[in-house]
Amino acid sequence: MHTLEARNLVKTFTISERQRRAQDLSERKKIAVNDISFTAHSGEVFGLLGPNGAGKTTTMRMLATLIRPDSGEVFYDGVNIKENPLKAKASFAFLTTDLQLDKKSNANDMFDYFAGLYHVPKDKAEQRKKELFETFGIESFADTKISKLSQGMRQKVSIAISVIHDPDFLIFDEPTNGLDIIASRDVRDFILKMKQEGKCIILSTHLFDLVEKICDRAAMIVNGKIVVNDTLQNLTNGRSLEDSFYDIYTEYSKK
Ligand SMILES: Nc1ncnc2c1ncn2[C@@H]1O[C@H](COP(=O)(O)OP(=O)(O)O)[C@@H](O)[C@H]1O
Ligand SMILES: [Mg+2]
Repeated sequence: MHTLEARNLVKTFTISERQRRAQDLSERKKIAVNDISFTAHSGEVFGLLGPNGAGKTTTMRMLATLIRPDSGEVFYDGVNIKENPLKAKASFAFLTTDLQLDKKSNANDMFDYFAGLYHVPKDKAEQRKKELFETFGIESFADTKISKLSQGMRQKVSIAISVIHDPDFLIFDEPTNGLDIIASRDVRDFILKMKQEGKCIILSTHLFDLVEKICDRAAMIVNGKIVVNDTLQNLTNGRSLEDSFYDIYTEYSKK
């Protein structure tokens, strides 16, 4: 059983003078994540749902060891990621919308490059490539320049690359953003397959629909705080998730 736990995470950004003027902000600091705690388990998909600017990406980046929290801790299988960040990183897949693929390269070469970075032995990497390319139907465009691929194709390549090292934890930030219905369906199916394989999956999204379709549990995050965290069944209780969250949000805003 794997667990990934966020414990009292806080992250504040200093807002630059230019940004303040552009966005007409008076504050010098923005509390992006304000005391967030939750635990996700293997064999489940945990959703972080929230509007734009809620603090989802910042939370995901702290989980993935890409940025350091001001305070709070992240534990995977009970081990603090601070103890051995490299080992933690080797257990994580991190997917984000601004993951940059080398536009002049192609899926084949990118895959080999990242397999090398993650020290995946050559025969294992080949086998993994075959499996993942088949899952995502990448073979047909594996040698096509990234710059010539659609957004959906690029996202599939990004996902395949993110799990090259067969990690136990999948941290997927807005995995279906900008994808058409076919590509998002493929991505959804892949996430469910990973769940079946016992991976621990945390995904962030602003799409109720995605959470409703694949999450077992979800937390709603508003202004850097979790306002509710429960099983999908309890959250919806026979209603649409959007309706339930609308009520929770309205109730929360009154406080
Ligand atoms: N590097 C940064 N510098 C300043 N502000 C930031 C930075 N990253 C995020 N923010 C701010 O923190 C808040 C949360 O952002 P983010 O985590 O990206 O939200 P989400 O992913 O939910 O849309 C937003 O107000 C955003 O503008
Ligand atoms: Mg985001």
